[in-house]
Amino acid sequence: MGADFDVDAVRADFPILQRQVGDRPLVYLDSAATSQKPVQVLDAVERYYRQSNSNVHRGAHTLGNEATELFEGARRRVAAFLDADPRGLVFTRNATESLNLVAASCSP
Ligand SMILES: Cc1ncc(COP(=O)(O)O)c(C=O)c1O
Repeated sequence: MGADFDVDAVRADFPILQRQVGDRPLVYLDSAATSQKPVQVLDAVERYYRQSNSNVHRGAHTLGNEATELFEGARRRVAAFLDADPRGLVFTRNATESLNLVAASCSP
C-alpha cells in the first residue's frame, strides 16, 4: 500500500468497523470466510430488495426485467473492471463452488 492509501477513509465505509470489541475498535481478519460489507454495498442490497427483488432471467414482468438488467449490468461492470469479456464471467456463491466448478470443468 502506498502512502496515499487512507486507512481511516476505507474503515469509515464499513459500518461494522465502527464497533468496539471490549474497549478497542474492531479489527476483522476473517475475510476469506465472510467479507464485511461497505455502506455502498449495504445500500445497494437494501435498494435491490426494497425495489427490484425478483427472478433473474426467469420473470416475464417488470420486476423480473429490472432484476435481470441489474444482474447483467453487474456482469458488465465486473467484466470492464477485469478487462474481460462479459460472456466469460460466471457468478458463483463462493470460493469453494468456484474451485469445484473449475475442477469439474477440467476433468475428462
Ligand atoms: C481461509 C478460508 N479460505 C477460504 C474459504 C472458503 O470460503 P467460501 O467457499 O465460503 O468462499 C474459507 C471459508 O470459511 C476460509 O475460512
